[in-house]
Amino acid sequence: MKPPRAVFVCQECGAQAPKWMGRCTECGAWNSLVEERGIEAGAPGSANRYAQLGAGGSARLYAEVDVADAVRLSTGIDEFDRVLGGGVVPGSLVLLGGEPGIGKSTLLLQAAAHFARAAGPVLYASGEESEHQIKSRGDRLGVGEAPLYLLSETCIERILEEIARLKPALVVVDSVQTVFSIKFQSAPGSIGQVREAATQFLFAAKGQNIPTVLVGHVTKDGSLAGPKVLEHVVDTVLYFEGERHHAHRVVRAVKNRYGAVSELGVFEMTGAGLRPVPNPSKLFLSERASGTPGSSVLCCVEGSRPILVEVQALVSTSTYGNARRMAIGFDQHRVSLLLAVLEKRAGLNLAGDDVYVNIAGGMSVEEPAADLSVVAAIASSVRNRSLAPSTAVFGEVGLSGEIRGIPQAALRVREAAQMGFTRIVMPAANLDRDGGSFQGGRGSPTPAGGAELVGVRTVGEALDLLIT
Ligand code: TYD
Ligand code: MG
Repeated sequence: MKPPRAVFVCQECGAQAPKWMGRCTECGAWNSLVEERGIEAGAPGSANRYAQLGAGGSARLYAEVDVADAVRLSTGIDEFDRVLGGGVVPGSLVLLGGEPGIGKSTLLLQAAAHFARAAGPVLYASGEESEHQIKSRGDRLGVGEAPLYLLSETCIERILEEIARLKPALVVVDSVQTVFSIKFQSAPGSIGQVREAATQFLFAAKGQNIPTVLVGHVTKDGSLAGPKVLEHVVDTVLYFEGERHHAHRVVRAVKNRYGAVSELGVFEMTGAGLRPVPNPSKLFLSERASGTPGSSVLCCVEGSRPILVEVQALVSTSTYGNARRMAIGFDQHRVSLLLAVLEKRAGLNLAGDDVYVNIAGGMSVEEPAADLSVVAAIASSVRNRSLAPSTAVFGEVGLSGEIRGIPQAALRVREAAQMGFTRIVMPAANLDRDGGSFQGGRGSPTPAGGAELVGVRTVGEALDLLIT
């Protein structure tokens, strides 16, 4: 038999080339092509591999499709269910990515144990740890009695055999980069193997209606290894975020066919595993030193969840020629833009100053609604005057210094009021648009409760109000 044809596959984007090149012509990555040998198109076993998926039968009328099929199964961990969009959908394929040591295996072992107790047998296949290692971790997490099957195996075909034998209610594969198919000669973790693993588990999940969770490793730059290949195949992509030096962890949905995207689950790493944090605002504000300059409270929305976080800024005279601008948890370019607006529209002189911005507690915020809060923290640090501790701020800042309306204002107002903030500085546009729905008079059960809502139109107006 002719040996399988060699192709060179880019490990970044999955593009194929007939010969080795120093640079991928598709994505431009350097030195990313690796030789992979696949199965020949005509080889035995290759022809009908994809046929099993097409067994769905004939087309059905929209109205006749039964939505009751889409029942969700709880993982027993509220915060995890929340990111999944309310629980695991049968037959869905979920990818959980994150840096090493952030808690992926811990969370999945906890979820697997809960799931096994509530819904039936769970298969936890690990290519990274032995059964003994998993069990000793499980003992620490208090797993106890549960129909939880451990399998220390890296061969996909063997794992699939066990799935067929056990017919579990949930399958966990830790991790997709360590498993390999005997049909490929390339090393585990290469694009070919990762793609094969994802596809095989997709068939198993859809074909037998077994929800499957794959663990994915991330590369140096923080994206999933074999990113495009994997993200397209799976139904849901979750990312584990947070800093290893902080106790709290955030699981974020970046793609979800069955729920809201950018939905967020917050956990705290403790001696006995990950503990869900039902009230993250309280956690993120717990260490706030109120009354110090350079701090403001932002009400951001992640998915459908409002969270209050502290934005900190420090402005100090630059000792070197180049002023440094640094941001942690917030887009650095956005900070530069906001500084330019502050200089031009609010008359602050920051040319010779270093500016540092930090979202406290290891959270990261991407929404433009955070702009006004960042601006307020910077101005507060420059003038060395603190904001009133019971004031929360949100709003987008435009280039001409205008404050623009933002989505889901009512949600933010409600959260801030519930957390005891008595004054909320927000875009006037939001108040004009649907101000009536915030406050039907003092003391009424509307989002604002008893909080005072102050609408602002320009950065200058906002700063005059906030920093007195
Ligand atoms: P782990 O789940 O192994 O990370 P991953 O699978 O993402 O690589 O998490 C390991 C880290 O979590 C490790 O640094 C120790 C810590 N940890 C705790 O603090 N408490 C615990 O109960 C457990 C099980 C782990
Ligand atoms: Mg692990």
